[in-house]
Amino acid sequence: KPMALWGGRFSSGPSPALVELSRSTQFDWRLADDDLAGSRAHARALNRAGLLDDDELARMEQALDELQDQVDSGAFAPEPGDEDEATALERGLIDIAGDQLGGKLRAGRSRNDQIATLIRIWLRRHARVLAKDLLSAAQALMDQARAAGTTVMPGRTHMQHAQPVLLAHQLMAHVWPLVRDLERLRDWDKRADASPYGSGALAGTTLGLDPLPVARDLGFSRVCANSIDGTAARDVVAEFAFVAAMIGVDLSRLAEEIIIWNTQEFAFVRLDDGYSTGSSIMPQKKNPDVAELARGKAGRLVGDLAGLLTTLKGLPTAYARDLQEDKEAVFDQVDTLEVLLPAFAGMVATLTFNKDRLEEQAPTGFALATDLAEWLVRQGVPFRHAHELSGACVKLAEGRGCELADLDDGDFVKVFADWVPADRAPEVRSVLTAGGAVRARRGQGGTAPERVKEQMDQAAHALKEL
Ligand code: ARG
Repeated sequence: KPMALWGGRFSSGPSPALVELSRSTQFDWRLADDDLAGSRAHARALNRAGLLDDDELARMEQALDELQDQVDSGAFAPEPGDEDEATALERGLIDIAGDQLGGKLRAGRSRNDQIATLIRIWLRRHARVLAKDLLSAAQALMDQARAAGTTVMPGRTHMQHAQPVLLAHQLMAHVWPLVRDLERLRDWDKRADASPYGSGALAGTTLGLDPLPVARDLGFSRVCANSIDGTAARDVVAEFAFVAAMIGVDLSRLAEEIIIWNTQEFAFVRLDDGYSTGSSIMPQKKNPDVAELARGKAGRLVGDLAGLLTTLKGLPTAYARDLQEDKEAVFDQVDTLEVLLPAFAGMVATLTFNKDRLEEQAPTGFALATDLAEWLVRQGVPFRHAHELSGACVKLAEGRGCELADLDDGDFVKVFADWVPADRAPEVRSVLTAGGAVRARRGQGGTAPERVKEQMDQAAHALKEL
């Protein structure tokens, strides 16, 4: 007969269908180590409150050590009748310590405050792993930005050639969201740093246990201020899930660029063989699967967040069993990111940019039309007219199938006639190079090489602080 943690007031055991539905050990067993750590801290709290004498505490700690060994070796594992990891561990403890001693540990705690604490401990630990992996990905991208030097490329809006930018600037535009994600993880941890242990089922305990030393033992600096909130709140889990989803979304946007840049038509970048895959039928294929999986997995990371928020919406406040559904969402996110991030970092680190192609494409598609208009503004032409005049040059060049810089001196003289003296008109050519266009954008945050170097230093500093 399965050993439930309840049953005194029931005349029949649970139906097999309920047992199947209720069981969570298939996913919550990964919290067993943290639960054992919580049990050790709780045993000391019971001892301080006079509810376990020193000898009982020593035997309890010994039994918990032995149970830990059995869990580590796999000698002890959940059985089909165990409702959750806590039920399984109590069965294991009683097997070792007997129920005179083992049966005492549950005093003054509930699975409601226990599980709320465990998910925080687990997430805080994995947030650090994710931060380390994300930092490596951000650093790989920074290294590429540094290696890009002053290579220019077409900057696009609406996917259309817009203005030339430094390749380094474009890459850094993907570094900054990752810097913010790292900051989000760090800021989140401050809010997660409060222990629900001691909240009991919802109202606290009558047994005189001090929750602060328990919190400290478990790596928290403080205790939740409200026992109902401590057991019922999952915003801390949802906020983690948001950051994980955001990381996925941020990676997916870079992934999409890499996929496009890697097409034959763009040919901006080449993927290393170690980070590409082939086709089972088309021998020539070399596919960007890492980037595609990053793009695809962003969907499931967002889905995990959406599912969790939907579970929480409208839930009455204190504990309800719905809350058991918080775990799989974030476990899936962490599992997903822990395999995605190293592969993503490796793909980024091994990209080879086709600098000649980027440079050649940078000024094309009339990407220097803004520079032309702004040159006119510097000659005193109101921007409204400068825009028109530049547009007229684009029209002329488009008709001839050439770029702006290929127009004749006479063309500029004619188009600018009412605004710029004829002898000065051809000087516009001085701004009609991609290199000149990026160098001219030297306001803070702009794409001029010295500004890009400045932001790379800023980002490196921000990453070091994290
Ligand atoms: N396994 C549950 C969870 O993960 C905790 C158990 C609380 N169950 C209960 N009947 N109070 O949320």
